[in-house]
Amino acid sequence: MAIEFPKLPYDMDALSPVITKEIIEYHYNKHHKAYVDNTNRLISGTEFEDMTLNDIILNSDGALFNNAAQAFNHEFYWLCMTPDPKPINKKMKDLIERDFGSFDDFKEEFIQKAATLFGSGWCWLELNVDEKLIITQRSNADTPIIDHHKALLTCDVWEHAYYLEYKNERKRYIESWFEIVDWDFVASNIVDYYHDLTEVCRQNSELCDYIDELQNQNEVNS
Ligand SMILES: [Fe+2]
Repeated sequence: MAIEFPKLPYDMDALSPVITKEIIEYHYNKHHKAYVDNTNRLISGTEFEDMTLNDIILNSDGALFNNAAQAFNHEFYWLCMTPDPKPINKKMKDLIERDFGSFDDFKEEFIQKAATLFGSGWCWLELNVDEKLIITQRSNADTPIIDHHKALLTCDVWEHAYYLEYKNERKRYIESWFEIVDWDFVASNIVDYYHDLTEVCRQNSELCDYIDELQNQNEVNS
């Protein structure tokens, strides 16, 4: 069972001028596709062949881990951006304020960590095993999956993500990128987390209350 090269969730020029068509043509068609193709080449005829991408990442190392993790990271990255950004959902903002003090403090910390990550890598917003939101710098292909954290948001700070347009101005790329974050996608990842943990979700936990409210909102809106 081959790993799928996912369809880009918008047109190549949909995120322009923040992420230009030229950047996406290289980043998606060349870099992302190569990680998927390499993963499929490396799992062919091995015990990894019928595993999910998640399980490949958890059970591999070396070249296979690097390519499989990058396949996941990139699929997730495209979903974190939208050509039609909306204000952050109030409950998601409440959760961010709970763990970072204010949305502005969160934004400042995220941009600072993304801008100062040494070399190539990813800046993530994750829900850790204690159900706390954290911002992490992860080098190269590193991914929250290996720590059993729930990925909520990521910014790719490999140079191939921005250099064609922003050159060495990584921080300017991150600040522009922040304006096209799909906060509905971020919130949906919290809902996914709840579904994954239905059996163990603690009664009266603050997170579960939040999820209930999010789901109620979705039912009202749908
Ligand atoms: Fe990338």
